[in-house]
Amino acid sequence: MKTVESIAKSLSGKKIILRLDLNVPLNKQKITDTNRIDKIIPTLDFLVNNKAKILILSHVGRPKGKVVKELSMEPVCEYLKNKLNQKIRLIKANLNNLKEKDLFDNKNESILMLENLRFYNEEEENNEEFAKILASFGDLYVNDAFSCSHRKHASVFSITKYLPSYAGIQLMSEITALNKITKDITRPITCIIGGSKISTKINVIKNLISRFDNLIFVGGMANNILKSKKVQIGKSIFEENCDHVVEEIFNLSEKKNCKIIYPVDVSVSKKIDGKGNIKKISGVQKDDLILDIGPETLKIISKTIEGSKTVLWNGPAGYFENENFKKGSLEIAKKIVEKNKKNEIYSVAGGGDTVAALNSFNLTQHFNFVSTAGGAFLEFLEGKDLPGIKALY
Ligand code: 3PG
Repeated sequence: MKTVESIAKSLSGKKIILRLDLNVPLNKQKITDTNRIDKIIPTLDFLVNNKAKILILSHVGRPKGKVVKELSMEPVCEYLKNKLNQKIRLIKANLNNLKEKDLFDNKNESILMLENLRFYNEEEENNEEFAKILASFGDLYVNDAFSCSHRKHASVFSITKYLPSYAGIQLMSEITALNKITKDITRPITCIIGGSKISTKINVIKNLISRFDNLIFVGGMANNILKSKKVQIGKSIFEENCDHVVEEIFNLSEKKNCKIIYPVDVSVSKKIDGKGNIKKISGVQKDDLILDIGPETLKIISKTIEGSKTVLWNGPAGYFENENFKKGSLEIAKKIVEKNKKNEIYSVAGGGDTVAALNSFNLTQHFNFVSTAGGAFLEFLEGKDLPGIKALY
């Protein structure tokens, strides 16, 4: 894989199409965790110092091909401007009408940003014409979005056919760290999977079971397990048509000696901004929302972490954005940190929301490695070729 650092000397005056993952959590167009933007600053500094012109490409959220005002790149652009103390123009014009000469026409402008790529269906469809349009805006392409590299999308995959393409600094450091982790980890290994992107993760898990000793389901992921066990989950999030995968996961875990743990009690509310009420899972009502794990579940998880040498964590245990439902994620994090400080565990966390939760608890620095990637992190652990990475070879 060719890296952008290896061509530092020839970057001066070149227009770089830079794919980043600036998919940060937003609440009413305010960024609630800036980690993914902060991590990319060294890449931008490197390109600016080497006198390159930069066109930033990213997505935020899942607008599904429609312009959704709340998912504009505007707050990200504003934050980056202040952070770099530099002008950055956000280009809102329709990309189909945009010409290379409309970009970088002002000699004093060195960084531009396109509006959310997922406002166009063509991005997720990996549309070749769309990829060609994106490629036509620059001289070189750099992928510094490891956390998107599991997506075969136009700005991650097909664009590499139309421009000389390079791996970015952050992407390389994630690959190096994750390669080391997959080689070095010692058993017993516990993997904690939570969060809400169920369909992104559920198929990956099947292939990971043989590598783990314990698999703990929390958050939205656990709801699918409970639902397939015919437990009432009320109005909680879940994904349709996953029962067969859950069944496969349980069958495989038995064969491969991997223990599966999922909630025995939960904290529920009638609305996400409400207060919590602890219930055994058998007590969840039709109008309840499961928003966190309960104390009995926490005890089981804590004991499992206590007996582990490695813990991998992707996806929060609950809706930590509301103070009333952060306890599950916070206590899991605290237990891992307690073991880490005694050098008794190797800990890796990954995913935008997991990192946001750890940052809000001020515990990120006590993990051995924290990846910005969620789905890509799991697929990498699975040993799968990520399309965005493969395309750079
Ligand atoms: C992520 O947050 O994992 C990446 O930005 C990819 O987002 P996606 O799961 O919506 O494709």
